[in-house]
Amino acid sequence: MHLLSTLALGAIVLPVAAQAADPHSFAQPQDVVLNHIDLNLKVDFPHQQLDGVATLTLDWKNPDAHDLVLDTENLKVASVEAVDDEGHPRALKFQLAAPVPNMGSKLTIAAPQHPRAVRIAYSTSPDASGLQWLDAAQTADKQLPFLFSQSEATHARSWIPLQDSPAIRFTYTAHVTAPKDVRVVMSAPNDPKHALDGAFDFEQTHPIPSYLMAIAAGDLAVRETGPRSAVYAEPSVVAKAAHEFEDTEKMIAATEQLYGPYRWGRYDILVLPPSFPFGGMENPNMTFATPTVLVGDKSLVSLVAHELAHSWSGNLVTNASWRDGWLNEGFTTYVQGRITEALYGQRQETEETLLAIRNLEKTIDKMPQNTQRLAPEPRDVNADDELSDVAYDKGSWFLRTLEQKFGRAHFDAWLKGYFDHFQWHSITTEQMLAYLKPNLIDKYPGKMSWDEVEEWVYGAGIPKDAPIPDSPRFDAIDKERTAFLAGSLAADKLDAKDWNTQEWMYFLDRLPDTPPLARMQELDAAWHLTGTPNAEIGMRWYVHAIAAGDKAAWPAAAAHATRIGRMYLTLPVYRTFVATPEGFAYAEQVYAKAKDGYHPLTRMAVERLFARARATAPAPAKD
Ligand code: BES
Ligand code: ZN
Repeated sequence: MHLLSTLALGAIVLPVAAQAADPHSFAQPQDVVLNHIDLNLKVDFPHQQLDGVATLTLDWKNPDAHDLVLDTENLKVASVEAVDDEGHPRALKFQLAAPVPNMGSKLTIAAPQHPRAVRIAYSTSPDASGLQWLDAAQTADKQLPFLFSQSEATHARSWIPLQDSPAIRFTYTAHVTAPKDVRVVMSAPNDPKHALDGAFDFEQTHPIPSYLMAIAAGDLAVRETGPRSAVYAEPSVVAKAAHEFEDTEKMIAATEQLYGPYRWGRYDILVLPPSFPFGGMENPNMTFATPTVLVGDKSLVSLVAHELAHSWSGNLVTNASWRDGWLNEGFTTYVQGRITEALYGQRQETEETLLAIRNLEKTIDKMPQNTQRLAPEPRDVNADDELSDVAYDKGSWFLRTLEQKFGRAHFDAWLKGYFDHFQWHSITTEQMLAYLKPNLIDKYPGKMSWDEVEEWVYGAGIPKDAPIPDSPRFDAIDKERTAFLAGSLAADKLDAKDWNTQEWMYFLDRLPDTPPLARMQELDAAWHLTGTPNAEIGMRWYVHAIAAGDKAAWPAAAAHATRIGRMYLTLPVYRTFVATPEGFAYAEQVYAKAKDGYHPLTRMAVERLFARARATAPAPAKD
């Protein structure tokens, strides 16, 4: 038995992980917790900074506590005051410590009298890791500058001084001013008809964790897609977005059918510029999304299913720490599949699931043992690296296993009960298990043993009997690929005219790491993959073309990596380039030009990739 599981079983009411402090935050929630934040901010585009005041309402827990300790990163703190119940301010002493890598600067505020509210005047840095500032010239319509945040996992602290741990939940209000013509949105109910008068007010009445704090501002048009949903995007993008996401209301209704009411009121989607470093981010009431899913045929809209699903798994029931991240991402990937099945059918869901399963199988054995666990033992990584494909794809695979073993009726009832039971709370893996045991595993004996559950959660690798869905279409593609690679089927004879996006992804994913150049050239001549408008297909194609030595594909690969800052679509291209000295030199040139348009996280990731490549390979030839 594993160490963690032993502790977990013996302490089901007092979970071990809940007692340990969050290693990614300086906050001391045993002393004091944040209940509410009131923000008064100005969006200052010329200086690329947010400027204003955050008033934190506090719940003091420990009568002996002296200090309020907050997380900050790259903030300038002008003043800190206690505010009494009559609103009278009193200056407080504070100390901003030197920054610690991946943690930021600990802000210690001397508050021995336990004020109910503390007011902090501050401004952000143009380099805030959680914000991207774009000039008008870097936007699609080139009219106004643009700002957006990305707080998960631990970047909220770079634009708000707060307790930056997912175990702590608070409500918020905000008053935000911006230049006229700019629309400001936040992770709270947004009014699609709000006038562009330079002042916006927000109220999030549900308690949320810090990583769900979000803001964006820019030249944003709005198109309603249903009674409680709309898309927000730059004017030239909004019609395409409204078309791609026209099924949003159906998705909300399908999820409610399965897991009970959507608790948040409105569900809107903001389509960001292509530099957005993720596919999507489940900011409450306002999913932030990459424009790379706007391919015109709805083939990539399971991204919306995923972010919407987080309204239950993640935003309603939240991982207490990043080590429990699979409670957010694994549960959400499972629910995403159920929404996709309800709207687009079993074949679509199976193909998306199989793509993920086959990728996980390929990579999991090469990961360190501890990283292969859904709930790993404590490890020294930064919060952004706690979540890998294991959390998403092994996590959802475990839930699909439960569904199969207990049957849909029982499993669905259990999962709905789980959301109801833990709603508005942040929980650990062990709290989830403590709910699973009596309410599913022991309730229907003989279906699955507790040892099997523990193997999924605390074991490395994938359990032997993990169920794999059938896809006759993928089987046919396997045969075609084999014949094509063997030279017995010409590229233009592939039966690919009707392949959907996922089928192309599957074909390309399972090509050899270094495919024969002639075959790749033939493939491109027959199917025009270079320059494809579908970035999921493009990423996979460029990786194989570069690895095969097809230099003709380099400029298009560079254009892809320059335009798109979504790390998942861009980093593999860089990774393939750096494998040869000549490719590495080319990638450095591409990056030098693309860098200004990249998000701070994308920059950091590319630079990290370069540094690692430099450390393991001889320096690229320079002339
Ligand atoms: N919450 C995540 C994004 C995230 C994870 C940001 C970890 C920062 C740290 C979001 O819900 C997500 O999973 N997005 C995926 C979408 C996909 C699985 C459909 C993405 O961005 O690729
Ligand atoms: Zn997610």
